[in-house]
Amino acid sequence: MKTNEHVVSINKVLFDLRKGEDAKISVFDRGLLFGDSVYEVTRTYRKIPFLFEEHLDRLWRSAEQIYMPIQYSRQEIYDECQKLIDSFDNQEVYLRIMVTRGEGAIGLDPDLAGTNNLIIFARIQEENPKWWYEKGVNMAITDIIRNPKKATDPNIKSGNYLNNMLAYIKAKKKGAFDAIMLNNEGLVTEGTTSNIWMVKQGKLFTPPVGVGILEGITRKKVLEICKENKIEAIEKNFHKDELIAADEAFLTSSTKEIVPITQVDAVNIKDGVPGKLTMRLMDLYRQLL
Ligand code: PDD
Repeated sequence: MKTNEHVVSINKVLFDLRKGEDAKISVFDRGLLFGDSVYEVTRTYRKIPFLFEEHLDRLWRSAEQIYMPIQYSRQEIYDECQKLIDSFDNQEVYLRIMVTRGEGAIGLDPDLAGTNNLIIFARIQEENPKWWYEKGVNMAITDIIRNPKKATDPNIKSGNYLNNMLAYIKAKKKGAFDAIMLNNEGLVTEGTTSNIWMVKQGKLFTPPVGVGILEGITRKKVLEICKENKIEAIEKNFHKDELIAADEAFLTSSTKEIVPITQVDAVNIKDGVPGKLTMRLMDLYRQLL
């Protein structure tokens, strides 16, 4: 997606880049200087932002974890998103809501910051490529590990994704779709912007939050779907070898939904095609949408 296909709201003022307008903030914004910001990504289905309350809950939780007050109300953020959605007529919309600590003299002390900058990016949410769902994707396990919980906790959705970006770069160099990161004990954590699952003997496994992951909202939904449909889903740690030897694997995120993983480190997962339970969950998830 090109930048000129976006409409951006900055502190409740809309900038339509499709009409040649530009969206700019100060070079002294701490989001730019230090990654001192939090964000959320969701999309609409039938013009309604999906699981919006859950995303706002996590935005506020992330902000609390970095000791950052948010001066805007939930209603103000919702109203801004609605304005952006309306500017795309009947199309489905991708939304990226970002709150930075604000602008101020350069220095780590958060007291240097003024008031938040609220930046919301919107663009058309195109359909994801069909092959992701039909063929599945290949993931690479990289030597970039997930930040330990005692560094910047991965459960904070902050604007600093450098660690994940490094893992992505390494995976891309290997010709993979994306990376899977281990933690410092060699346990599987998550993808660079998604959660990871595997199926073994009809049971689902996904790493627990304690291993150091972002607690995905799609992950939570899939756990709920499993409960309602009496599919056994267990939050449990596993190693890379167990993942490679799994019967099925898939990833989840708000924008990708459920994507089968058919290769890890260039080794086929079982027969190298999307698994049965994965496809059933994809069906159940789409019914929910
Ligand atoms: N990424 N793990 C990480 C590190 C993520 O950045 C994301 C989301 C997820 C999945 O979370 P959810 O199901 O709530 O989308 C897991 C979004 C989509 C992004 O940054 O674009």
